[in-house]
Amino acid sequence: MTAEYKVDGAIAVITLNNPPVNGLGLATRQGITDALAKANADAAVKAIVITGAGKAFSGGADIKEFGSPKAMQEPNLLSVILAIENSAKPVLAAIHTVCMGGGLELALGCHYRIAAPGTSVALPEVKLGLLPGAGGTQRLPRALGVEPALNMIVSGEPVKSEMLALLPGQKLFDKMAASAESLAAEALAFAAEVAAQRPLPLVRNLPCKHPQGDAYFQFARNMVKGMSKNFPAPGKCVDAVQAATKGKFEAGMSTEREIFINLMWTPESKALRHIFLAERAASKIPDVPADTPQRAIDAVAVIGAGTMGGGIAMNFLNAGIPVKILEMKQEALDRGVATIRKNYEAQVKKGKLKQDKYEQRMSLLSTTLSYADLKDADMVIEAVFEEIGVKEAVFKELDRVMKPGAILASNTSTLDLNKIASFTQRPQDVVGLHFFSPANVMKLLEVVRGAKTAKDVMATVMSLAKKIKKTAVVSGVCDGFIGNRMIEQYGRQGGFLLDEGCTPAQVDKAIEKFGFAMGPFRMSDLAGNDIGWAIRKRRYLEKPDMKYSKTADLLCEKGRFGQKTGAGWYDYVPGKRDAIPNAEVVKMIEEHRKALGITPRKISDEEIVQRLVYSLVNEAAHILEDGIASKASDIDMVYLMGYGFPIYRGGPMNYADQVGLFNVVQAMSRFAQNPLDDAKFWQPAPLLARLAAEGKTFN
Ligand code: 3HC
Ligand code: NAI
Repeated sequence: MTAEYKVDGAIAVITLNNPPVNGLGLATRQGITDALAKANADAAVKAIVITGAGKAFSGGADIKEFGSPKAMQEPNLLSVILAIENSAKPVLAAIHTVCMGGGLELALGCHYRIAAPGTSVALPEVKLGLLPGAGGTQRLPRALGVEPALNMIVSGEPVKSEMLALLPGQKLFDKMAASAESLAAEALAFAAEVAAQRPLPLVRNLPCKHPQGDAYFQFARNMVKGMSKNFPAPGKCVDAVQAATKGKFEAGMSTEREIFINLMWTPESKALRHIFLAERAASKIPDVPADTPQRAIDAVAVIGAGTMGGGIAMNFLNAGIPVKILEMKQEALDRGVATIRKNYEAQVKKGKLKQDKYEQRMSLLSTTLSYADLKDADMVIEAVFEEIGVKEAVFKELDRVMKPGAILASNTSTLDLNKIASFTQRPQDVVGLHFFSPANVMKLLEVVRGAKTAKDVMATVMSLAKKIKKTAVVSGVCDGFIGNRMIEQYGRQGGFLLDEGCTPAQVDKAIEKFGFAMGPFRMSDLAGNDIGWAIRKRRYLEKPDMKYSKTADLLCEKGRFGQKTGAGWYDYVPGKRDAIPNAEVVKMIEEHRKALGITPRKISDEEIVQRLVYSLVNEAAHILEDGIASKASDIDMVYLMGYGFPIYRGGPMNYADQVGLFNVVQAMSRFAQNPLDDAKFWQPAPLLARLAAEGKTFN
């Protein structure tokens, strides 16, 4: 049942019951209209209360239904709201916990509203690339005033009910309940009070004006434009609210409807809706049920206080979990702690962290030079040098000292996790936690599942990831895991593009225009070109037939390791991150080209983007096929959260789906004809070829 019906004396109570958040899917909408009809037909009923079961009044339209025929099927949300407005008996919304999107629009259609304090009230549609499509842009300005309503619609941010109730002249809430617990009883009493009231008040009949008229909306539009350049929805929200101030209510509703439908089909909205669901799907592991027992993690140890160890430790300190860091030498510990302090102090200076919070976090940090001090930790994360011998020594020691059941995690970015696990007598407790640099900032966490990692370890680290505010994505064991395995192919394409005629700046600019935060050469300068150099030395020994451009090696031979040496693909001025093109580097590339006998050609931005992005897509298809990732949307999350892929394109797999996999495969077969490229790589992965042939998508 999705809407329960009950009569309490003279009051009918309709309770939305569609867990988890009472989304207004077809069955729920049908349930509401049926119940309304029943209440209106029952002479004993004098007034109607609508409320929500569980932890929400309503989270709005059912996002999972979007794009399916069900979303539009009658009764659609507009018809439900109309039925409420037209009810001959007063309808009262009893709002609590979460009242968002279509849920708030439904409440705004009711004749009266009573809210519990602490309710999160929002019109968050803009975060899905939409605007409220069931009258929210027309009714909220009437109920709340134009400015606060526009702010809520453009930002999508929740505001607490008690704060809204304080707005002068607001008509959103007729009454505030004393508490969430007393809401139901107070709603019944209020319903009885207004049962005989006629005519019934409707938000649509309230006036809607802004004293500064069009000028105000122009300012709002200018502001929104600057802040949301790749997203059409925020600007459209302004248009719709302006329409509310212009003419009749019905005309405003038509404007809202037209904009809503147009936005629904934009790639940006599709991308944002995909991300909403992908983010939630990422936390679910197919063979690890939601009720898998978890291990308690109340104390964490970190081995290594270098670049990663310090950042990793901060995540747990921020979440209130004590951390003990172990190093080989006191100086290394002091350096690591000083860096953590410096990072926090910078946040305090910027006003992002309160002094007492800073002190509280630092008080949770302790250090040691002795493994014996780690015996009480529930989890240890190793972040020492990336050498298998060093990892072996550390894990043998951890196996000796850690208490039974402790989780032993490695932050390795390239080494075989199964091998690391084999250094211990408890491979079931070993897992990879691949943080991204800077580890206290980057949202992505690749959780590397070893062949023997226990399910409860997986369940524990996935929920711990949420606690430390990371987006965790599960990866199987392979070289580079999901993200770096793909980036290697992307980097290889970058190299071929230089060999064929591009400059680093041209490649970077093209892909940055596509929306990447940073092109491959700027990114490599940031990460350190020596890291890729070391990987290549190993990789191409193992795979001598793998084709790649030698330009990056030549660059490293000149000591141009990137930002840290002030010189890489670009030059850098100390203290600044601006990439300044360097003529010597361009000359180096030209000479290399000449030595290979290549006549440079002009390569279009379109080709650059396609080769870089499709190289990610093809490798990702292999990753899916190999079972390294369990779903395409996980790969999108990796690229969105860890590699600066443009949000409004929804990740490489979503982007490929939108371009059409047939078109992607066609482009690959063109690239395979290029003698300077790697024809073997451009053979579409069998999964990609199959999906393209069947006209299907990844997601
Ligand atoms: N429809 C369907 N499912 C929804 C949903 C919705 N509107 N909102 C949340 N859910 C689901 C999530 O997918 C998740 O499902 P899962 O357990 O299977 O993964 C579950 O509810 C819990 O979600 P969260 O993990 O996000 O739980 P939180 O407690 O952290 O947050 C929330 C709850 C504040 C409601 C948050 O989920 C949220 O912000 N939801 C989006 C609300 C929204 O955007 N509503 C507008 C919809 S568009 C609309 O109404 C159009 C209309 O104008 C016509
Ligand atoms: P780093 O060189 O900055 O720090 C390593 C620290 O470990 C040093 O402080 C060193 O003194 C300490 N250490 C070395 N051997 C030790 C031992 N036996 N016992 C205790 N401490 C020891 O290295 P970084 O960059 O922090 O990398 C650490 C790990 O994280 C590596 O496995 C690396 O591959 C991985 N990683 C690095 C990323 C990066 O961007 N730097 C990103 C993701 C993972």
